[in-house]
Amino acid sequence: MVAIYGIIASASASRTTAEPRHGRSIELTSISRPRRLSGVKDEPERLADGYDQPTAGFGLRAARCGNILSACSVGVSAMLISTVEATMTLPSYAMNQAGFPQMYERCLVGPLFRPWVDAILEQVELSPGDRVLDIACGTGIVARVARERLGGNGDVVGIDVSADMIAVARAAEPQIDWREGNAGSLPLRNGEQFSVVVCQQGLQFFADKPAAVNQMRRALGKGGRLAIATWRSDDEIPFFRDLRRVAERHLGAIVDQRHSLGDASRVEALLRDAGFHQVRLASLSRKIRFPDGAPFVHLNAMALVGMSDAGKDMTDQQRKQVVATIASESAPVLESYGGQTGLAFDTSTNLVSAML
Ligand SMILES: C[S@@+](CC[C@H](N)C(=O)[O-])C[C@H]1O[C@@H](n2cnc3c(N)ncnc32)[C@H](O)[C@@H]1O
Repeated sequence: MVAIYGIIASASASRTTAEPRHGRSIELTSISRPRRLSGVKDEPERLADGYDQPTAGFGLRAARCGNILSACSVGVSAMLISTVEATMTLPSYAMNQAGFPQMYERCLVGPLFRPWVDAILEQVELSPGDRVLDIACGTGIVARVARERLGGNGDVVGIDVSADMIAVARAAEPQIDWREGNAGSLPLRNGEQFSVVVCQQGLQFFADKPAAVNQMRRALGKGGRLAIATWRSDDEIPFFRDLRRVAERHLGAIVDQRHSLGDASRVEALLRDAGFHQVRLASLSRKIRFPDGAPFVHLNAMALVGMSDAGKDMTDQQRKQVVATIASESAPVLESYGGQTGLAFDTSTNLVSAML
C-alpha cells in the first residue's frame, strides 16, 4: 500500500511540491491574490436580483460580489436573504434554490474553488484525447478548466444533482455536456466510459458514499484515473475552527458536513473497497482571499446554523436572529484574519487520486 501525504505545504506557503502518481515532481503554486482565472466566466450577465455583472476582470467581479453579499448582511435584498438562508440551512446543501447557484458562481467559485483545479487536473495527468467526467460539478469550474486544457481534443461531461447549478454551468459553457443526476446512480449512456473522473468538494455531501464510489468505478475504463478533493478537518483550518467555536456558544457542538471527510484515509478506504489501485493521498494548502470578509462570515454562520441540531428546531425568525448574533460575535475572528477590507485565511484540502 502506498499512501503518502506527497504534497507538503505549510499553512502559509505560497508554493507546494507534489509527488504525483508516476514519480514526476510537480510544483503547485498558490493563488494568493485575486486575478483573472481561466474557467471563470467574464461576460456580462444579469443576476437573479437584478444586478448586472461587470465586464472587467476578477477584481471587479469580486468587488461586486462583496456588494451582493453585503446585501445579505444588511437586509437590502430580502429575496436573496431568504434564498440563501433557505439553501444554507438545508442539511443536504442541495444548492438548488433560485439565486444561490448564481451567487455561488460569482462570489465563491473564484476565491474558494478555482484555486485547487490546476492541482486536481495535474494529479490525473489530463492529456489530449481524455474523456473527463466531473461528478458533483456544481457550476462546473473543474469541467470548464478541463475543457479549456483539452482544447477541443477530448470530451467533458459534468453531472450534478442540482438542476439550478447545472443551469448556471450550462450558461457559462454551453459546449460541455451537462447532466442532472445523482452521484449514487450516474446518468450514463449504455457502455459510456471515461478516462478521467474528478470530484471536487462533493463526496462529503453524498448520502451513500460507497454507492457513489462504485459509480465512479463504473464510469471509468481500465487504466482510468480518478481524483477526489475533500476539505481537511476544520480543526486544522484555524479560520473555520474559530468561526465554528463562536457558533457553538449558541448552538452546541456542530459537525460541519463540509469538513466531514477531513480524514483522507476514509476516502482511501472507500476507494480500495471499490477496487481502485495506486491510491495516493495528498494535502494541499492555499491562501484564500475575499475582498470583504463580513458577508462571507455571515454566509458561513448561516451554514453552521443549518448544520446544527439546535438550528433544525428553530423558526426562520430564530435562525435569522442567531445568525446575526453569531456573525456579530465573529467580528474579532474576522478582524484577526484581515477584517472587512480584505479577508485572507489559509485553507487545506485532501487530494486523493487512484487508478483502475
Ligand atoms: C461545494 S459544491 C462543489 C461544486 C463543484 N465541484 C465545485 O468545485 O465548485 C457541492 C456540489 O455537490 C452537489 N451534490 C451534492 N450531493 C450530490 C449528489 N448526491 N449527486 C450529485 N451531486 C451532488 C451539490 O449540488 C453541489 O453542486
